[in-house]
Order: sequence, then structure tokens, then C-alpha cells
Amino acid sequence: MDLFNLLLIVHLGAFALGVTTTIAAPIVMARAGRAPADARGLFMEIGSRLRLNARIAVATLIVTGIAMMYVRYGGFAGQSPWFHVKMTFVVVIVLVLLAGIFLKPGKIPQPVLTWATRIAMVGAVISAVMAFN
Ligand code: HEM
Repeated sequence: MDLFNLLLIVHLGAFALGVTTTIAAPIVMARAGRAPADARGLFMEIGSRLRLNARIAVATLIVTGIAMMYVRYGGFAGQSPWFHVKMTFVVVIVLVLLAGIFLKPGKIPQPVLTWATRIAMVGAVISAVMAFN
């Protein structure tokens, strides 16, 4: 197995982790508010862990993505418009992630952040397939 294939396996593994956690984390967090008082802490703990995993997944996607660009394409030059579409969705995902870390909770409504990430994830997959397949 060559280095590119190894990177792609990690990239797609991180993608699976990213998609599942970005769907699950907001669901668990939203339920935490309505959970009985003695269960609320546990809900928050699970939600925070899922959110941490989502952040690790996005960081891994970016690192392996950049590495693949250099290993297979020698850099970023000459990519199709679909690649730029994909990068735009990646920027949206990163901005939402940073907003979650640096902005006070509630500054941007949670459903806006949740749906921006979900739509951008779907968009990134579609544009990745269009760009590379
Ligand atoms: C949230 C972020 C990302 C998602 C959801 C994502 C998703 C995907 C998916 C589904 C594929 C498989 C496409 C296919 O083989 O047809 C793929 C491949 C790839 N992605 Fe990403 N990706 C992300 C971030 C990035 C970033 C930041 C870069 C580069 C800067 C990148 C570069 C690549 C490359 C080079 C490939 C493989 C190209 C090839 O098969 O020749 N990705 N990505």
C-alpha cells in the first residue's frame, strides 16, 4: 500500500467520524437541557465528548487532505472548480468549529451552527466526489 492510499484511508475514516459526530453531538446537547437534573451532567459529558471527536475529525481531514494534495498532485495548482467548491465548504465547517470554541454560547443560534455544518459536510462530500472521481 502506498502513502497516498494510507492517507486516503485515514481521510475517509475521519470523514466517517466527522459526519456521525456532527449529527449526534447537537442532538445529545439539545436533549441535555430537557433531561432530568440528575442525568443532565451525563448528557453534557457525552455531548462534549462527541464534539471533541468532531473537532479531531475535522483537524485530521485537513491534515490528511493537504498531505494528499502534495503526495498525488504536487500542491494545489490546477485543481478543478469542484475542488474550490469543496474548499469553500471546508472553510464553512472550520468557521463553525471556531465559533463553537471562541464565541459565547448563544451568540449565534445553535440550530444555525448545527445546520451550517451538516449542509457543508454533505456539500464537501458531493464536491469531493465531483472533484476527484
Ligand atoms: C470536512 C472536510 C472534508 C471532507 C468531508 C472531505 C471528504 C472527502 C471525500 C468523501 C473524499 C473521497 C472522494 C473520492 O475519492 O471520490 C475525499 C478525498 C480527498 N480529499 Fe477530502 N474532505 C475534506 C477535507 C479536505 C481538505 C481540507 C483537503 C485538502 C486541502 C482534502 C483533499 C482531498 C484529497 C486530495 C482527496 C483524494 C483525491 C483523490 O482521490 O485523488 N479534503 N475527501
